[in-house]
Amino acid sequence: MAKTVTTFPLPGAAAALLREAGALAGPGGWQGELGDADALVTILTERVDAALLERAPRLRVVANAVAGSEHVDLAACRARGIVVTNTPDVLTDATADLAWALILAAVRRLPQAERDLRAGGFHGWGFWDYLGGDLGGKTLGIFGMGRIGRAVARRAVGFGMRVVYHSRTRLTEDEERALGAEPVSFAGLLARSDVLSLHAPLTEETRHVIGVEALARMRPGSFLVNTARGALVDEAALVEALRGGPLAGAGLDVYEREPALAPGLLDLPNAVLLPHVGSATRETREAMAMLAARNAHAVLLGRPPLTPVAR
Ligand code: DGY
Repeated sequence: MAKTVTTFPLPGAAAALLREAGALAGPGGWQGELGDADALVTILTERVDAALLERAPRLRVVANAVAGSEHVDLAACRARGIVVTNTPDVLTDATADLAWALILAAVRRLPQAERDLRAGGFHGWGFWDYLGGDLGGKTLGIFGMGRIGRAVARRAVGFGMRVVYHSRTRLTEDEERALGAEPVSFAGLLARSDVLSLHAPLTEETRHVIGVEALARMRPGSFLVNTARGALVDEAALVEALRGGPLAGAGLDVYEREPALAPGLLDLPNAVLLPHVGSATRETREAMAMLAARNAHAVLLGRPPLTPVAR
C-alpha cells in the first residue's frame, strides 16, 4: 500500500484524497515516517536535500504546497527519478493583493500612523500630519512579469499608475497592450520606477539583483516592495538605502534569512515589515494544500502530475 507523509497539517479534503491512495502519516513525527514513504507533501520551511532523500528510498513524489521550490534539491530528486511539484496559479491573486497592501502601507505610511494612534498619539486631525504620496500618475515598476507580476500590473490600472516592467521573457504585444505595460531595460526599470515591486523567482541570476549598485540607481524618494523571495535583495544594502537614500521606504514580506531580519531593519520607521504572509488567505492556503495533495495522488496512481516544477 502506498504511503504519503505530510510535514504540515492538511485540510480534511486533502487528507481524504491522499487516504484514497493509501496511508497518510504526519505531520507529528514525520521525519521518522520517511523510510517507507512513497509521497512527501511539504512546504518551504523543510529542506528536501540529498540527506533527506537518502532516508526515503521509496519516494516517488515531492509535492510542495508552495510556488517556490528553492528549498528542494531538484538535481538530487531528478537523479532518483522523483517527481517534484509546486502550486502555481492558486496563490497569484492573494500574493498580488498583498503586494498592493504593502505598496499602499509604505507609500501612505500606514503602520506609523496606526502605531501612534495605539500609543495614544491621536490628538485630532492634523493638516500636515502623516503625509504620504499619491500613486496616481506615478510609475510602478515590475521585476518579473510572470503570473503574479501580471496580476500586480492589472491592479495598477485602478490606481492610475503607469506600468513598466523588466522580465526574462517579454510579453506579447497584445499582453503588453492589455496591461498597459511597457518593457524596459533593468537600468530603465530602476531609473523610472516610483514603486518597484519584485516578482521574479530566486535563481543564481536573480540573487541580490537589488544590491548596492541597483539601489543607488533607483529614483530618489522611491519605494521597494518585495513579496517574492528575500534573497533577491541584499538586505544589508537595503537598510543603508532606507537610512540614507535614495529610497523613501520599503514594504517587505520576505527576507534573506527567514525568520531572521538584517540588523537595523526593525529600527527603520520607513520599512513596512510582514512575516511572509503573501498567500495567507484561508481560500488560497486550502487551494495550495489541495493542489499539492492532487499532485501526490496523481503520481501515486501512476498518472502525470498536474503542476510539475519546470526543470
Ligand atoms: C510560495 O508559495 O512560494 C510562497 O512564498 C508562499 O506564500
